[in-house]
Amino acid sequence: MNCSAKNPCSTGKMTGKIPKPFFVANWKMNLLTAEAVEFCQALKNRAQETPGVAHHLAIAPSAIALSTVTEQLKNLPEILVGSQNCHWLESGAHTGELSPAMLKDVGAGFAIVGHSERRAFYGETDAAINSRIKGITDNGLIAILCIGETEDEYRNGRSKEVVLNQLAASTSGLTHEQARNVVLAYEPVWAIGTGLAATPEIAEDMHKAIRERYTQLCGECAGNNPILYGGSTKPENIFELLKCPNIDGALIGGASLKINSFWSLAENGLKGYEAAGKRK
Ligand code: PGA
Repeated sequence: MNCSAKNPCSTGKMTGKIPKPFFVANWKMNLLTAEAVEFCQALKNRAQETPGVAHHLAIAPSAIALSTVTEQLKNLPEILVGSQNCHWLESGAHTGELSPAMLKDVGAGFAIVGHSERRAFYGETDAAINSRIKGITDNGLIAILCIGETEDEYRNGRSKEVVLNQLAASTSGLTHEQARNVVLAYEPVWAIGTGLAATPEIAEDMHKAIRERYTQLCGECAGNNPILYGGSTKPENIFELLKCPNIDGALIGGASLKINSFWSLAENGLKGYEAAGKRK
């Protein structure tokens, strides 16, 4: 049966409600354990001073800092902690990989997959990303799937073709239940770490197309999931981005490494989301 507003998905494994808006820190290969602890302590103070922000936040530390961060934030279970990658198998001879069981073992709630840095530098393919998503979601975890075009593809007017193809290939064969636990992140490669974020108009145009295609591919329930924007977000540009109808949060690299910028970014993003009267 197709899921729809009248017939929502109702069977199978299901993760808890995914926050909207949703601000996810991607620490990449940064922050040593002591720095991660310092960040978490400051985060706990901010959450106490300003309630109402924390349940929109998530952090993806390095694999080594993962259990330290989950332990540090155990009294703030509303902040999701997750991994920057995840294999699809439970265990086995896969040097350098992490399994869904390992993530659950340390209290992680999600995993990022398909980041452009993994696609470009480590040969990550859509087929592998597809398997990863299935393994992650079958284990009750949320998958954050990154898609985005390179600068050349953008200049050649191929952005939509590339991004929608990545989306279709990476989510191929997902059941509605698996698809419902996937958060999409549009991350134009030319905007990542460059200081040149996509304009709200460019980002919204792509997010709208992604939502339409994902709804066609995986049903209405999945189509309502958050679609994050990533690429040079900062406290100064997030308000206008979050006012756009189809931008539901951000995947944040550089600006997530310091508590002040991460927190201000989330606060300003929430204000933009609310100013536009969007539904949480
Ligand atoms: P950036 O990275 O915010 O540093 O541009 C975003 C990302 O790669 O997820």
